[in-house]
Amino acid sequence: MKLSRILSNQNGVSRKQANALIAAGRVTVSGGICREPAQEVDRFSTVKADGAIIQAGDAVHYLMLYKPAGYLSATVDDTHKTVLDLIESKLHSDLHIAGRLDRASTGLLILTNDGIWSRRLTEPKIKIPKVYRVSTARPITPETPERFAEGIWFEPERLWTSPAQIEMLGLREARVTIYEGRYHQVKRMFHAVGNRIIALHREKMGDIRLDDSLSPGAYRPLTKEEISSVR
Ligand code: URA
Repeated sequence: MKLSRILSNQNGVSRKQANALIAAGRVTVSGGICREPAQEVDRFSTVKADGAIIQAGDAVHYLMLYKPAGYLSATVDDTHKTVLDLIESKLHSDLHIAGRLDRASTGLLILTNDGIWSRRLTEPKIKIPKVYRVSTARPITPETPERFAEGIWFEPERLWTSPAQIEMLGLREARVTIYEGRYHQVKRMFHAVGNRIIALHREKMGDIRLDDSLSPGAYRPLTKEEISSVR
């Protein structure tokens, strides 16, 4: 919402009075003077006029969870346990998942209530690398790296996946980097080359790596550096 609107929504202040307060340097947004009435201010920012709180600012949460197998990447479900069952309830409020993992998949799952931030992490156009360690049912063929680099055709979406990299770790084990996060993307890519995933573990999204000190089911807040790596 624009700053002038936040001020004029309060205490019967007119838009004109709000603009005058802002122009006079009497309004701060998260601690800094803002003289721009049209400045967009999100719900997490604190707005003060002459030191009085106009908008307190909602608490913002960014969490990294080590998702164990068997939990659904959803906030509610009637039949299955969801990843929110692993998070203390006082944080549930409006958390959403930034990039789901399938129920059987494990590893890095990020939850937040900051939708603008999470879109930057997950929007296919932004092409943030996501790194997965996979085990496959059959040996990974020598053609697989080339096919992934060329892109795989996804008929339902009618698109080619962005070039992906694969690092071989064994006959049936690899590290795969993709730049989107389409529905069952890694499984479908292996299926397209005649293979099948039997285990999938997300290690990293952008510069955010699953913390080695977390055990399955545990979580921690992201650090300032991890949060700002996405901005
Ligand atoms: N791709 C998949 O197929 N499954 C996941 O859980 C994540 C990426």
